[in-house]
Amino acid sequence: MLSYKHGFHAGNHADVLKHIVLIYLYNLSKKHCKSMTYIDTHSGNGIYKYSSRYMDKTKEYKYGIKKIEKYTGDNKLIINYLRILKKITKNDTFYPGSPFIISNISEAKDKLFLCEMHSNEFKSLKINLTNFNNVKLINSSGFEYINKISNINNNFFIFIDPSYEIKDDNIEIKFERAKILIWYPILSYPENDIFIETIRKKGISNILNLELPILKDDDNRGMKGSGLLIINFNNKLIFKNLKLLIRELNAYLTDSNEVFKPKVRYF
Ligand SMILES: C[S@@+](CC[C@H](N)C(=O)[O-])C[C@H]1O[C@@H](n2cnc3c(N)ncnc32)[C@H](O)[C@@H]1O
Repeated sequence: MLSYKHGFHAGNHADVLKHIVLIYLYNLSKKHCKSMTYIDTHSGNGIYKYSSRYMDKTKEYKYGIKKIEKYTGDNKLIINYLRILKKITKNDTFYPGSPFIISNISEAKDKLFLCEMHSNEFKSLKINLTNFNNVKLINSSGFEYINKISNINNNFFIFIDPSYEIKDDNIEIKFERAKILIWYPILSYPENDIFIETIRKKGISNILNLELPILKDDDNRGMKGSGLLIINFNNKLIFKNLKLLIRELNAYLTDSNEVFKPKVRYF
């Protein structure tokens, strides 16, 4: 039985980081392939209302999107993300999840496969995405779904954003050619170092890793920060742009100067 509800966390610092990078990499991937196949293995419901009892309870968005929505700097990735959010949320009553963002920026020829295992979340996802004809919704495990596909190639972009509720969420990456973006939480810095070491030992080549610490390790407010694993995007410009991005997000979202420095590195 899954109990995770993304509504409690929507629009927080982790969503800001992951959605900025997701939009950037999605658009970049499209430039290099004629027909894009995009898979969101853990979609959530797509639309999170600020007035819902979930968002209203935790108000995590106040330390995420609300800290950056009036951004006046010159970082192109942040500017583009905010421009897209403004366009698709119109009257600013909700924060858009990854399926809603990508459906809105996709073209009719892009094929989107969106998995959500939780039946209530899936029902809402179906309602929230009725207007999109290039979308196929799958009410089962995203991990099982990608494992069944035999013809994965470099026209595939897979976004893996689990809730890390169960042990199986420790990702096994089997696709050598697909472009993959994986999000993970930093719950404690020592445990995170072990997690990263385990990934490094898997010997997967071509991994770019980003980490944005937000809170100090002794802060008891929950998740300390989050990270991304970016696989098969080998490009000096991406590295440079992500370095600029993380520096800027660090300045806007980080809680204090004593927090660990953000990281951008290749394994
Ligand atoms: C972190 S949330 C997704 C947020 C979304 N990707 C976004 O950026 O807006 C994770 C979601 O995965 C769902 N979930 C958990 N395990 C799953 C699985 N094995 N396959 C598909 N969905 C799963 C949860 O119900 C939850 O809605």
